[in-house]
Amino acid sequence: MADQYAQSGEDKRQAGIPAIRWEEPPEGPVLVLLDQTRLPAEEVELVCTDASALVEAIRSLAVRGAPLLGIAGAYGVALAAARGFDVEEAATVLAGARPTAVNLSLGVNRARAAYGAALAGGGEPVQGARAALAAARRLHREDAEASARMAGHGLALLDELLPGGGHRILTHCNTGSLVSGGEGTAFAVALAAHRAGRLRRLWVDETRPLLQGARLTAWEAARSGMAYTLLTDNAAGSLFAAGEVDAVLIGADRIAADGSVANKVGSYPLAVLARYHHVPFIVVAPVTTVDPHTANGAAIEVEQRPGSEVTEVTAPQVPVTGAGGGIPVAPLGTQAYNPAFDVTPPELVTAIVTEEGAVSPVTAEGLAELCARARPG
Ligand code: MRU
Repeated sequence: MADQYAQSGEDKRQAGIPAIRWEEPPEGPVLVLLDQTRLPAEEVELVCTDASALVEAIRSLAVRGAPLLGIAGAYGVALAAARGFDVEEAATVLAGARPTAVNLSLGVNRARAAYGAALAGGGEPVQGARAALAAARRLHREDAEASARMAGHGLALLDELLPGGGHRILTHCNTGSLVSGGEGTAFAVALAAHRAGRLRRLWVDETRPLLQGARLTAWEAARSGMAYTLLTDNAAGSLFAAGEVDAVLIGADRIAADGSVANKVGSYPLAVLARYHHVPFIVVAPVTTVDPHTANGAAIEVEQRPGSEVTEVTAPQVPVTGAGGGIPVAPLGTQAYNPAFDVTPPELVTAIVTEEGAVSPVTAEGLAELCARARPG
């Protein structure tokens, strides 16, 4: 079950409502999410008391972005365990809630394994629940640490590639604190550049059809005091042609063993543009996003989303008239092609930056070496 309540206070906004948190009120543990579908219009929290509410929140993108999906999945297993639900069943539905971001199943499996190990060691379910929660908290903490280290490596790489400073960075989708235990991935690098006085402008792709760039990245950029400008996705070409982009920084939902990068649809065209215009195309992601079990880009399952996300416009502040819950912008019955992600081949990626350092050029060997450093044994 999920409940919603609105946070209005300026205090909370200043402090920043975290994207996710675990709470233990007297009625029992809950997972509290900042409902990202309602941003930037309002800051509303969603309180999940079971895995099915969390699955719904994941599918509706109330909680989203690869690293945060991993953290949410781990807490979801802990929630099921703490509330006495069938942990295996909860883990299975959670892991399958969205297919592309590998972090989701990784987070679920970490908490599931901790629960299983506690029981296998002779523990009662209550000890299993504690172990699952500890695993979720660890993943949350590790992601925050990874985020800070990615920011450092990413900024060093930017400074090396663009020695003049005054970086003008184009980004796509949303990769800040809304998707992470820390300050995010690609956005964290832009933020580090901003703090170091070396970010001239953040170009923010609006990211059709669900506007993660316009609604979320612009919101985060404004709160951080960055110089930013929003553009429609299809304005990127003329921006490159005008020589206004020094580097592209994006996140990733899954990186295959060969270095192919699945990220929000619209990333691949940016990589093609960047190559044509001799602009570095940099992917920033934690090592948890690299999936050694996915051989190449063709093996990545790309989530297909409802066509109504394209044929209708939805926003929390507009009245609903279409069958998909939004205002129709196409003739009734129009079919839509709506993949949530696309795949960029490794040869178009200048570098992949992780908390363990950067791989450039992007090769299977380089990635494997970096993963071995992060996951020894
Ligand atoms: O469909 P979404 O909003 O979950 O897609 C998110 C993205 O594509 C992000 O760019 C990606 O998860 C990287 S976030 C660090």
